[in-house]
This record gives sequence, structure tokens and C-alpha cells, in this order.
Amino acid sequence: MKTFVAKRVVLIMGGGIAAYKCLDLIRRLREREVQVRVVMTAAAHHFVTPLSVGALTNERVFTNLFDLDDEREIGHVRLARDCDLIVVAPATADLLARMAGGHANDLATSVLLATDKPILVVPAMNPHMWMNKATQRNVAQLKADGVHILGPAIGEMAERGEAGVGRLVEVPEILMAVERLIGGDQTANAAAPRPPHDVSMASQRQDVLTGRHVLITAGPTHEPIDPVRYIANRSSGKQGYAIAVAAARLGARVTLVSGPVSLPDPAGVDVVRVVTAAEMLEAAQAALPADIAVFAAAVADWRVAKPKSEKIKKGRGEAGVPKLALTENPDILKTIAHLKSRRPALVIGFAAETQTLVAHARRKLKRKGADWIVANDVSPGTGIMGGDRNTVHLLSAAGIESWPDMSKDKVAERLMARAAADLSHYLTARTAAE
Ligand SMILES: Cc1cc2nc3c(=O)[nH]c(=O)nc-3n(C[C@H](O)[C@H](O)[C@H](O)COP(=O)(O)O)c2cc1C
Repeated sequence: MKTFVAKRVVLIMGGGIAAYKCLDLIRRLREREVQVRVVMTAAAHHFVTPLSVGALTNERVFTNLFDLDDEREIGHVRLARDCDLIVVAPATADLLARMAGGHANDLATSVLLATDKPILVVPAMNPHMWMNKATQRNVAQLKADGVHILGPAIGEMAERGEAGVGRLVEVPEILMAVERLIGGDQTANAAAPRPPHDVSMASQRQDVLTGRHVLITAGPTHEPIDPVRYIANRSSGKQGYAIAVAAARLGARVTLVSGPVSLPDPAGVDVVRVVTAAEMLEAAQAALPADIAVFAAAVADWRVAKPKSEKIKKGRGEAGVPKLALTENPDILKTIAHLKSRRPALVIGFAAETQTLVAHARRKLKRKGADWIVANDVSPGTGIMGGDRNTVHLLSAAGIESWPDMSKDKVAERLMARAAADLSHYLTARTAAE
């Protein structure tokens, strides 16, 4: 387990049902030797007690802006500054609105307004509250102000029968975001020597992609048949999201163009959500220029030529089965790799195949004009589509490298470390070609 020795987090707990999950978050942070000071809103007291929070943090719990003892002891401005990170979880719709509006009408918002430290907001609310234009406006404002927003996740709500986007992101995901923002210290093995030329060494350096822009596509695309039906595939988006996290860790500015997936936005990454292949191409082009582009999305090859604007009615028998005329989708990898101007210096494509993997990938490398192809076997027995592990082969003009089976996070780290190490070569080649 990574520890964050001597790191200090202020956790601001809002009044939402998910507040109970933040008790576990406190425990996990304490296990990692993080000092946790908690500010609870008045509404949060209805969901968890300051007594349980204080017992877990081993610190006094701060609740009232006008508490004379608290103000004398530490004061809201010091509370806001004497930390490495402020985490707002659960962030209620109301807290988001107060933050976006610059309010300071209670201790939580006063601390948030007085801080000069990074802020990680983890919203949780009913899906209708989340999708409400006012909430979306507030979230957009907070993002523009440099606040990191994590989630919310998709799933069932505490209220019976309610499901959608609004769940608090799971605690391990929040811990990962905290780690990205305050940095970890692998005390157990920090001093262990590493083998020479290990590309994972680059992943230990946090700055190798600072000043670089990395564009990543991830997830499936959904191609509409009519307003309620669509053509899709089994891509989970996990590999592309892991690559986005790995690139951000190396200091890059990251744009992640994501098809419909149930993964939360990684902290510190600009996420553009799209649905169809055409939208994905448009968003990818709009994100240029980029230094590195990784096309990990499983883009639908075909779409319905003329999707219906009304739901297709079920007809009777065979004669009533609609015939779908398909047409080709734009080839995003090929389009961007063949751009005359604004082609990213290093273009990486993914090839998911179920047979003759390497031969297909070789052809793809040539046909698409990519610099590298990451090929993986997604046959049903492999569990790669939707799973957490991947076995890949990296193809380039220099040859083929087969990597052992590893987690998608490790594949991402290794790929980005390699891209960072080789980028100068591709930048020189691009300059020479211009
Ligand atoms: C049972 C119950 C559950 C609630 N859950 C949420 C929630 O999950 N998310 C949310 O944004 N608001 C929720 N609310 C509404 C907030 O508690 C309310 O907006 C409150 O003013 C938020 O205050 P705060 O932002 O200062 O914590 C809930 C209210 C009740 C009564």
C-alpha cells in the first residue's frame, strides 16, 4: 500500500446520503498516514455524526464558522491553507452551487474560498439533480476555475428504483485521485534499485510530459437505429481511461474523448463525452493540436444509414422485421494520422482482433498511417473486453514487442512511459517533415 507520509487533507463533507461512505475514505486515508481534518456542513450532521468522524480522524471536527474556540485554535483561513489538498465529498448540488457562486456563508464554503490549495470535488446526488442545467452550469464553472471534479459514477441510487449518473465514485477511485493530486511515497520500496533501461522508470518521474498535450479516445460508440435503439460494442473504456490517468501523472495536459461508458471522469483530465463515431471524430479534431494521440476507442465501423426519428414499431412476423442499411463510419485513426498539418507527432492506434492478431495489426499499422499499433486479442475467452487485464503486442516500424499479461493500469503506464521516452524522436521527425 502506498503511504502519503506527512500529507494533510481537509475533507469537507456535505449533506448527502453518500456521507457514510466518506467514513471509509477517512479510514483509508488514515491507513496511508494522511492527516485528515474534517469540516462538516450543517446538513452533513443529519447523515453522520461528528463523534464517528472525530473518532476516525483522531482530530477535532470543524463545523461552525463562528465557533470561538475553533477560530482561536486554528481559524478558517489557516484550516484552508495548512493542508496539501481539499477534498469535498460528498459534494451536494447545493455545495457545488455555493462554490461556483463564490459564497462563504458557512465554514465549508469559507474554507473553500480562502484556500490556495488544489480542490478535488466528488459529487453525489440524484441523477435528475446532476443532469439539471443549473448543476451542469455550476460544474462547468468549477472546472473552468481549476477545480478537479471526480465523477459522479453511474449506477443505482440509494432511493429505490432510481438509477443513473449520480453515485459517489467508489473510495479506491477517490484514493487514486488523491494520490495523483498530492503524490505518493512508496515507502516500502522507494529505495529499491530499478533495472537499467526499464521504461517504467519514466513513470516514476512526474514531469516528463509537462507542457505536452495528449489526446486519447476511449470506450465504444453508439450508433442510433431510432431514438431508443442503437448499435454498440462491448468496450468498457477501461484501457483508454487508464492511459489518460497515466499521461496526466506524467504531467501532460490530457484530453480524453470518451464514448458512452460507466467510468467516472479521471481527476485532472479534460473529458469530452460523445456518443457516435462522427461526434468522436469532431471532438478529436477540435482537441488538436496534440503531441501524442492514442486511439483506444472501439469505434463502430458502421452506422445505420438513415436512423429513424421515431421509434420503429414492431411489425408482425418475418415480414415485419426491419432491414437496416448500414454505411461506413469515418476512420478516426486514419483521418488524424493522415492530416497534412496538425498531425500529432506520435500517433498510436489500437487493434482489437479475435484472429490472426499480429498479421492484422501489421496491415493496420501501414494502412492507417499510425506510428505504433497496440494489438490485443479480444476473443471471448480472454476476458479482455470489460476486464481489468490485457495482453498486448506493440508494433512499430522497428518491429514487434510482446508484453506479458498485466493489468490495464500497468499497460497504460508502460505505454505512456515509452511514448514519453520516444517522443523527442517523433517531434524531430515531424519538424523535418514540415
Ligand atoms: C434524505 C436526504 C438525502 C439527501 N441526499 C442528497 C444527496 O445525495 N445529494 C445532494 O446534493 N443533496 C442531497 N440532499 C439535499 C441536501 O441535504 C440539501 O441540499 C442541503 O441543503 C445540502 O447542504 P450542504 O450542501 O451544506 O451539505 C438530501 C436531503 C435529504 C433530506
